[in-house]
Amino acid sequence: MTRPLPDALLSLPHRRDVPFARLTTLGVGGTCRWLFEPTTEAEAQVFVQTCAREGLPWRVLGGGSNLVVLGDVDTPVLRLALPREVRRQGTDLTAPASHGHIALAEAAAQASLSGLAFASGIPGSLGGAIRMNAGAHGSEWVDVLIRFRFLTPEGDLVERAPAPGDFAYRTSFLTGGHVVLSATAHLAEGDPAAIRAQMAELRGKRSASQPLTQRNAGCIFKNPTGQNAGRLIDLAGLKGLRVGDAEVSPQHANFLVNLGQASPAQFKELMDRVRAAVLEAHGVGLEPEVEIWA
Ligand code: FAD
Ligand code: EPU
Repeated sequence: MTRPLPDALLSLPHRRDVPFARLTTLGVGGTCRWLFEPTTEAEAQVFVQTCAREGLPWRVLGGGSNLVVLGDVDTPVLRLALPREVRRQGTDLTAPASHGHIALAEAAAQASLSGLAFASGIPGSLGGAIRMNAGAHGSEWVDVLIRFRFLTPEGDLVERAPAPGDFAYRTSFLTGGHVVLSATAHLAEGDPAAIRAQMAELRGKRSASQPLTQRNAGCIFKNPTGQNAGRLIDLAGLKGLRVGDAEVSPQHANFLVNLGQASPAQFKELMDRVRAAVLEAHGVGLEPEVEIWA
């Protein structure tokens, strides 16, 4: 970045030149030149307000488990590092957005609260899960979310209940400069042993069908309405297709894995080839489910 960053940003906790290999589960990408890690909501607000005032583009990162980074990123990147405090009120559980998503599902089970078992195999942070309306096994975040706090792109703090139209399949209105700060799930009293058994069952299903021992970003493409992207890719005969170290998983065709040193160019080429082949074989245009930082 040629333009110097304003002092108001530089006074916030930050690190320089962090490889995306360490910030994402896929491990593809270049260098994150500026990583800002506020430890309070107020610091996060200073970050967003300063960028808005200065007209500086920026991005927000969670656990990096739904992200394909296609190069170096020079614009400031925000990654919340809020205290890991989980609050319980009745059967409601509130956690900061930077809380680990799987760890939150564990905390709910520990507190004998059911309703978050679906989350127990989805990596990343709570904030990323709210932004993506993450889901699995027939449930998604919008089913349990009752309140959330976020910053608007101007840096104003809002706390409210979800409204109709806020969330849909793997998406939400929180794109383009909103930052989720915390979220509250409305859960139900449950039997800890039964909750743990359900979590174990869902994890078993997942590890049987998904390549969890290889670096990946979850499903790469959304399921088109009424269809299944993995099945379409599989039927097109693409399992095992490789471009360098980027491979269509032989286990689940909608997982494109990094076998070790996949470069952004290799990964992009594999995604493009899969889309083109599915379009040709089935006449279906697949849409990325992952976020792509170009
Ligand atoms: P990131 O990847 O860091 O970011 C994703 C998007 O959210 C980006 O646009 C980012 O800018 C934005 N974002 C991150 N934090 C915030 C914040 N605080 N405020 C606003 N925006 C934010 N997903 C599913 O839905 N279901 C699954 O079953 C599932 N299984 C997976 C299995 C594996 C093995 C892997 C690797 C991934 C899987 N995923 C699944 C994808 C991923 O885990 C989810 O989308 C997850 O919720 C992303 O959270 P994150 O914190 O990693 O987000
Ligand atoms: N299938 C194939 N070949 C494959 C993969 C799948 O034929 O290579 C078939 C399966 O046999 C099955 C069907 O496709 O009949 C569905 O497969 P699966 O149960 O694995 O579910 P999915 O639709 O591929 C979705 C989500 C996952 C989530 C699982 C479990 C999307 C894009 N994917 O996968 O979410 O974990 O259901 O609920 O919605 C993610 O979003 O990153 C993700 C991993």
